[in-house]
Amino acid sequence: MRRRPDVPDIPPRQRGEPSVTMGANALSPTLAPRHRPVRSFVLRQGRMSPAQQRALDELLPRFGIPFAPAPIDFDREFGRSAPRVLEIGFGMGETTAAIARARPGDDFLGIEVHSPGVGSLLKRVAELGLTNVRVVRHDAVEALATMIPPASLARVHVFFPDPWPKKRHHKRRLLTPGFVRELALRLAPAGRLHVATDWEEYAQEILATLAQEPLLENTACGFAPRPEYRPLTKFEARGLKLGHGVRDLVFCRRSGAASIPSP
Ligand SMILES: C[S@@+](CC[C@H](N)C(=O)[O-])C[C@H]1O[C@@H](n2cnc3c(N)ncnc32)[C@H](O)[C@@H]1O
Repeated sequence: MRRRPDVPDIPPRQRGEPSVTMGANALSPTLAPRHRPVRSFVLRQGRMSPAQQRALDELLPRFGIPFAPAPIDFDREFGRSAPRVLEIGFGMGETTAAIARARPGDDFLGIEVHSPGVGSLLKRVAELGLTNVRVVRHDAVEALATMIPPASLARVHVFFPDPWPKKRHHKRRLLTPGFVRELALRLAPAGRLHVATDWEEYAQEILATLAQEPLLENTACGFAPRPEYRPLTKFEARGLKLGHGVRDLVFCRRSGAASIPSP
């Protein structure tokens, strides 16, 4: 398996973050719901390098958007009007930074719960002098529901979501039919949802889930060729040598869907 499907703990109330950052985990015992929702990640105490911590301290106030139960005003956040790309679960942010650098005309919003990863992306953003990246450090399921306006996105990227290979953990997989619908509602007409995974069984499940979503249409016959903008990751190059296939899925939001309910 390529990566551990868990992430370190998020320190409470770090720079610009609301105190209720992680839903049930952060609520006071009296406010906490009886049943904790099933999440697509597990928070564990993890190591943060001094450079990542410094990037969080110095750059999150500038490039971070605190989680809030209100839609983001993208034009105000980025200071311009441009196509918006949402990336969910960017890990250490290598791919995010590479794509943002290669496409300066697009604006990128990354959502990730893994604090060292957020620090790592912020560091890259500063090193490369990128102005078209913003970050939300929060559960993407919650952030999508409240912060991303309907039909506002040109693309959504979900690269190598945790496969949760054990059957009893499948319920943690991010790309459920319900979440895919929420993503589809936030794509502009003809906007694209691009998923990549190296876990064949999950790839088949995602293909079936996306194909069943009426708002989406496959741009390929089954799996798609890797779009040129998605760089080959180090891991992927190694996996390919070992014979692990990587599947790309690129679905497009159907246009002319005037009767579609808003989220
Ligand atoms: C297997 S890693 C892939 C990282 C990166 N996309 C890559 O290709 O290297 C999956 C990432 O998704 C993040 N993640 C999982 N569920 C999430 C959620 N609900 N909200 C935000 N990030 C999430 C994890 O923290 C982890 O960094």
